[in-house]
Formats: sequence, C-alpha cells, structure tokens
Amino acid sequence: MNYEHIALKPRTAAIGADVEGVDLEHLDDITFAEIRRALHEHLVLFFRGQRLTPAGHMAFAGRFGRMEIHEVFRPHEGHPEISVLEHDAEHPPISDSWHSDVTYRPEPALASVLHARHIPPIGGDTLWLSAVAAYEALSPALQEFLCTLTAEHDFLQAYGGYFLKQADGPARIERARRETPPVTHPVVIEHPVTGRRVLYVNPTFTARIVELAPAESRALLDMLFAHLLKPEFQVRLQWQVDDVAVWDNRATQHYATGDYYPALRRMHRITVGGDRPRGVLRETPAPARAVG
Ligand code: SIN
Repeated sequence: MNYEHIALKPRTAAIGADVEGVDLEHLDDITFAEIRRALHEHLVLFFRGQRLTPAGHMAFAGRFGRMEIHEVFRPHEGHPEISVLEHDAEHPPISDSWHSDVTYRPEPALASVLHARHIPPIGGDTLWLSAVAAYEALSPALQEFLCTLTAEHDFLQAYGGYFLKQADGPARIERARRETPPVTHPVVIEHPVTGRRVLYVNPTFTARIVELAPAESRALLDMLFAHLLKPEFQVRLQWQVDDVAVWDNRATQHYATGDYYPALRRMHRITVGGDRPRGVLRETPAPARAVG
C-alpha cells in the first residue's frame, strides 16, 4: 500500500515498521490517517527521536480514541491517563511476561502509545508478536476448533503476586476481586477494522479455556503460548530516549525485557480504550420448523 505523507520502513514480514518524516506533536489529519492505516497493516509502529511533552503525548494518543486510566501503574501528575512505568533497584521490572494490555477488562485496549523517557545503558528492549500471523500459521482443523472456544482472563493472575508483596496487598486483592472480576473473551477474535483473525490468548492474563476440562485447557493453552513465541512472528525494539512505539493491542502481544535491573528505566504509556472483542462465529439462525 502506498503512503504519501509518511516514509514507512517495514522491519519484518509479519510485524513492525519504522515511520520517518513525521513530528508527532504537529500532525495534520491526512498524515494521521496514513499512520492509522500503517498501524493496521504493520501492527506496531516506531517513531524515533520524538521530543513529546506529556500534553503532546496525550494529543497524539487521543486521536486513536478515548484514553483510560490504568488500575496498577502510577498516574502521571497532572495527566492521569499517562501511566508512569518506572523500574529501578527498589521497583524491579514487572512487564517481562507476554501479554496484550488489559485483556482482563470487558473492553480491552485497542492501542497503546509508549514514550521512552529514561533508558538504561544496556537492556530494556521490548518485543512484540503478531497474533494474526500466529493464528494464520495454525492448521485449519485447529483453527476451526479454536473458533468455538472462549477463555477467561484474570487480572489477579497477573497482579495478585505483585500486590502480596505490598503492605496493603490483601486489601488490594480483595478490592480487585470485587471491582475487576475475571472476564471471558473468544479464543479467536475478528479484528474490527481489518477483519483478520487473531489468536486472543496470552500467558499473563488468560487463565483457562471455559469449555474444556482443566487438564485439557492447560495443555492447549501451553501449546498455544509456545506457538505464539515463534521468532517469525516477532519484532524487537532497542529503545533510545524519546522513541515512541504505538501498537495495535487487539492484534499483538508484547514483552518488556527485565534484563536492565537494577538500573533505572522510565516509560510513559497511554492506553486507548477499545470495544468488546468479537468472535468469528456468527449466530446461525435456528432451522425453520416444519409446521403441521
Ligand atoms: C507494557 O506496556 O507492558 C510495557 C512495555 C514496555 O515497558 O516496554
């Protein structure tokens, strides 16, 4: 597909592209429309050397949709929609596990916009994978079976252990049980913009496949999680300060390496709210009954 207002350099066949020739603080509508189109085509976009202010970060992310406040990460003072992801010797990394953002919500994010504020001297790369390429590489018989299934996504599976290390941990767990109960999503979803099918289970939040016995669910999820990790589905970014990454959160998963510990790494992330994920099976009308 042609782009007239941005220079696009794909990184791999499955996922990722660098976008050059844009200033994210000063975007016109035509350029933004091309960025959105490129996002749906390449799933994660990298913009190097963007000196975004928090207000500029909000203005760019807000073009994708409504910005949401995260349940766990520290909100930026004055801009609570920006989550400050800061890790150092006292606060070890916690995003070193494959996931799509907030799939434990009934309406998970459609995109996330991440701005690098402080990068350690070595390490701290982020990896993304295409869950579209992963689905498409499965055999047709397994694809068909997966389309009939739903899975439970559980906030506490990811954050319960983290809360328990804190003084108010039991109270936070109790509150999360009430306010953020597990939700169910189809195992395969149809992307609402591209119509492509996405393998929509991730090891951080997906707890079980509802229709299967526990041992079957565990075995199938482990197989799918291993399949998702094929290097052919991945791209990796070695960050520099002021780089910005935007990902299609419905079609990808990501993993922030924790290898920089105990050094400092600080990122600003905005999560853009999405819709309820839709499965691929349409309700088929009941067959008409013969009368008489
Ligand atoms: C995340 O959104 O999980 C964090 C990604 C990162 O810090 O690189």
